Amino acid sequence: MKLKILAIGDIVGRPGRQILQDKLPTFIKDEKIDFCIANGENSAGGSGITGEVASSLLSFGVDVITMGDHVWKKKEVVPLLENERRLLRPENYSPLARGRGIVAINSKCGEPIGVINLLGRVFMKPIDCPFRVVDQVLKEFSGKTRVIIVDLHAEATSEKIAMGWYLNGRVSAVVGTHTHVQTADERILPNGTAYITDLGMTGSHESILGRSISPVLKAIVTQMPERFDVAERDVRICGVVISVDSSTGKAQDIKRIVVRENE
Ligand SMILES: [Fe+2]
Ligand SMILES: [Fe+2]
Repeated sequence: MKLKILAIGDIVGRPGRQILQDKLPTFIKDEKIDFCIANGENSAGGSGITGEVASSLLSFGVDVITMGDHVWKKKEVVPLLENERRLLRPENYSPLARGRGIVAINSKCGEPIGVINLLGRVFMKPIDCPFRVVDQVLKEFSGKTRVIIVDLHAEATSEKIAMGWYLNGRVSAVVGTHTHVQTADERILPNGTAYITDLGMTGSHESILGRSISPVLKAIVTQMPERFDVAERDVRICGVVISVDSSTGKAQDIKRIVVRENE
């Protein structure tokens, strides 16, 4: 059976949530999407996530929410990570950190789909090796699900490409998040793994990575701290649609998508 999986890049604040509320249910229906993952690390006020925000994203049609370096920004995420298995934090945080970075959930057609959330280490705070951690968690999925999607939340293009090749033929897709800029390098690697360096951002594109332009510019130019408001104009959903053969777990197709407000 062919599964269509939608992966959505970092949702930034209310504008990002609003466009998902307006557009996601129709997109899922029209494109016959079986399963949807979305990165929610910036979904509450531009940084972190709350219970209310997580519930709303799930109600719009997101099946699993992944996070990133901003996961701990809202304190209430800690009990939430323990009570809501569809909310993941990067798996390569300390084993002593609360929550998990992997889950297997049945898609609409009953097929189990594994999701793994990892954080990169290049130009980021110290964290356990995502390569060795992914080897361990793939053992946990072995025999349970053939369809596995990895969100590697990372700064460096090189590290994300390296993970794509490391997992080539071992997972259905490796998608990157965190930079908020969609890359044009989507491809199917030779052993059937779909890959893109960054899904892009679901939020305002008349902005600097989703934040209002003038305070960010002021902070850069003056080198003084500024409050970065969430920007509101030219809101887009960015991501990819991946087709996977559920009997083998191999990806067959990956297509970049951008959905604008007035489409
Ligand atoms: Fe982000
Ligand atoms: Fe991030």
